[in-house]
Amino acid sequence: MSTKLTVKSAAGDYPVSVGFNIVDEALKTYFDNSSAPACFLFVDENVWKHHQPKLKQIFDEIGLPYRSFIIPEGEKSKSIKQWQVAVNFLLKNGVRRNTPLVAVGGGITGDLSGFAASSALRGIPLIHVPTTVLAMVDSSIGGKTGINHETGKNLIGAFYQPEMVVADTQFLQTLPRKEWINGLSEILKYGAISNSDIFEMSELFFEEDLRQVDQQELIKLIELCMGVKVDIVQKDEFEGGVRAFLNFGHTFAHALEKAADFDQISHGEAVFLGMLAAIDLSNRVGFSIDDRSIRTFRPLYNFGVSSDSLNRDRLIEYMKSDKKMVNEHIRFILLKGWQHPVLRTVKDETQIADSWLAALKEL
Ligand SMILES: NC(=O)c1ccc[n+]([C@@H]2O[C@H](COP(=O)([O-])OP(=O)(O)OC[C@H]3O[C@@H](n4cnc5c(N)ncnc54)[C@H](O)[C@@H]3O)[C@@H](O)[C@H]2O)c1
Repeated sequence: MSTKLTVKSAAGDYPVSVGFNIVDEALKTYFDNSSAPACFLFVDENVWKHHQPKLKQIFDEIGLPYRSFIIPEGEKSKSIKQWQVAVNFLLKNGVRRNTPLVAVGGGITGDLSGFAASSALRGIPLIHVPTTVLAMVDSSIGGKTGINHETGKNLIGAFYQPEMVVADTQFLQTLPRKEWINGLSEILKYGAISNSDIFEMSELFFEEDLRQVDQQELIKLIELCMGVKVDIVQKDEFEGGVRAFLNFGHTFAHALEKAADFDQISHGEAVFLGMLAAIDLSNRVGFSIDDRSIRTFRPLYNFGVSSDSLNRDRLIEYMKSDKKMVNEHIRFILLKGWQHPVLRTVKDETQIADSWLAALKEL
């Protein structure tokens, strides 16, 4: 089973597909129809560890000369230094304007490889093969690429659209459970801002061994989420308006990640708590939302950080240093109702502090 969507962008349209065991066919068809002289394979180190024989077989069968570049796991790979190493690798190995870069991995591999592809020779063709749930439903679509700077996350980068996105759920067979749950947070975000069916469909995450989930149901869920992302980025490719709705829960989450030094809490865990905080704040500013649809999934999360180590004033300061400030006040994506996100500036900091208190009670 495989399904395909098309993303329309200023740089051209590109297909996004999801299915089980589809990557061989998709890559072979792409290269059969291209005049590429060679290609580059940029792979996450854990993906390489588990899937090296299969990837080698695919590229051997494609028959073009290729070079592989392994990306160490972790956020530290989204650095200026690692970007430099990546671009050096391309330039020293004869990259041409028509040499595609195939990025196989999670959001870290995709963001770094995408930025390297956008900057080498002012842009070479890019193909995303996302291998985490998060990358399948979110980071591989929409053209945001980039790396971190010492002053903050994702501060250096470019909008650079891929030629194709191929999400093969077979890769998820080796994904650690914690990473599945990280991806779940972004899935629930789509449920909150766009489509309530997603909540019920996400119950498959309660399966004890996630490698056993029904592939058809999983693919249907991923496709639905991809559809939400495609729809939003098509309406607002360069984030001037509705694309900001994708940040639901993220203003709280980014502060939490920073307060926890980016290692005691994962992005997905922070987004889950951030969504609960954003719902709480939505209620404080006068909307009326029952958080049950998201709270149901609380037992799936194990937070490794304690609330004693987090100071609410400091969390609010971190929010202020985020990119979304207007005249010293913090802007949030709140819910006017389920599937009705709104952008709101909240001036009353006691409301924000109280929402933090509500979220931190979960820890
Ligand atoms: N560009 C965007 O629009 C966008 C959107 C959301 C998030 N992001 C970025 O994405 C990054 C997070 O991405 P992520 O959650 O995919 O994390 P990740 O890339 O770090 O992958 C998570 C972990 O899973 C491992 N892994 C990946 N695929 C695997 C597989 N199939 N089998 C076994 N192990 C596997 C990795 O080695 C890593 O340890 C962040 O840097 C975030 O800023 C970007």
